[in-house]
Amino acid sequence: MALRTKKSSPSISPPARFPADSWDYILESLEEGIFVIAETDAIVYANQTAEQLTGLSHAQLHGRSYLELFSANPWIVDIIQRTTAADNSRTAGEGELRGRMAHSTPVRLTCSPISSNNGTSLGLVLVLHDLSYQRELAEAAQREDRLAHLGVVAAGLAHEIKNPLAGIRGAAQLLQGRLRHDSSSAEYATVMMREVDRLSGLLEQVLTLSSSPPLESQPVNIHKVLTEVLLLERETLSPHQRVQTRFDPSLPDVEGDEAQLGQVFRNLIKNALQAIAGRRGGELTIATRMATNFHVLRSEAQKPSGTARRGRVLAIDFTDNGSGIAPEQLARLFTPFFTTKTKGTGLGLAISQKIVAQHGGTIRVESNPGVGTVFHVYLPVATV
Ligand SMILES: Nc1ncnc2c1ncn2[C@@H]1O[C@H](COP(=O)(O)OP(=O)(O)O)[C@@H](O)[C@H]1O
Ligand SMILES: [Mg+2]
Repeated sequence: MALRTKKSSPSISPPARFPADSWDYILESLEEGIFVIAETDAIVYANQTAEQLTGLSHAQLHGRSYLELFSANPWIVDIIQRTTAADNSRTAGEGELRGRMAHSTPVRLTCSPISSNNGTSLGLVLVLHDLSYQRELAEAAQREDRLAHLGVVAAGLAHEIKNPLAGIRGAAQLLQGRLRHDSSSAEYATVMMREVDRLSGLLEQVLTLSSSPPLESQPVNIHKVLTEVLLLERETLSPHQRVQTRFDPSLPDVEGDEAQLGQVFRNLIKNALQAIAGRRGGELTIATRMATNFHVLRSEAQKPSGTARRGRVLAIDFTDNGSGIAPEQLARLFTPFFTTKTKGTGLGLAISQKIVAQHGGTIRVESNPGVGTVFHVYLPVATV
């Protein structure tokens, strides 16, 4: 990097009462990842968020050349080099930050030259802003929009279908009574009633998805809810399936609707058990923990109560070693009616996502076809 000079710019000094040695703490507190690159191309400073974004420790980052650090991210190298070449002008761009692990994070990068008072160039500062939460919000807004449209159609259809369905069921029941002595005909009536019940159930689910019943909010112990759901679901387990729990007993309550959260857990557990069905050694592990993932913590700012502060979030991880999900299907998982099962409705995840979002949380999924799947449910803890 060539040494550059610049006309002196006004110096920025902290207000009188602000201790100058606090700048370190300020940089460490930022939600943006900050890297400082010296004239030698070496990283001379990286804050905590920068470490989290790259998945590298302070020791691994310090002194390393940016060319090596960002070798998997040519677009970042390009921005840095353009800033250097453009002599004192700031350069910015957006792209995927590929870390050491397979996953990547969408980020906005601003790269600015640093100059001393006398204009000597001291290197560059990179500011990386994590866009994943913004993307999630945009997707959630799109989903809301689709659901709102679905809601209008569903409410109309439900109204038209509900009464005739009840009529058909009543008539089938009568028939069944009259056909007591003709068992094979009575069986047809039973089939009619069962199918009508299935349709009514489907209608209920579509209505849940498209309307927003108010949350019966109260402090909820998620371990209690998970245990109750598991008690019922365990009955459907085959001898080849195992469910393990790893609960952190010190976790606080979440603020929410117990019945609705129970529905979310039931959907995720059912899906996992279906994914490991028929697999020898099929296993589902449910673990609870405090979430330390910083970009999830921001979701608290979006809560309807609206105070933009970081709240604590807990996570429930449903890990199965089942069939896994193909990468091209991952993006469609939460779309209503998306299913790969012959008898699936494709509504379980859409409803779950909606309920968790209403609680100010989010669901994320990671999957490896043939290896297994993890669903992470993040929920803000109750504030006392
Ligand atoms: N744990 C899992 N493992 C593998 N695939 C899953 C898992 N959970 C969900 N899926 C996939 O997501 C799809 C949608 O799930 P869902 O909305 O619950 O609808 P349904 O279960 O009725 O198909 C499923 O059909 C399946 O392909
Ligand atoms: Mg399901």
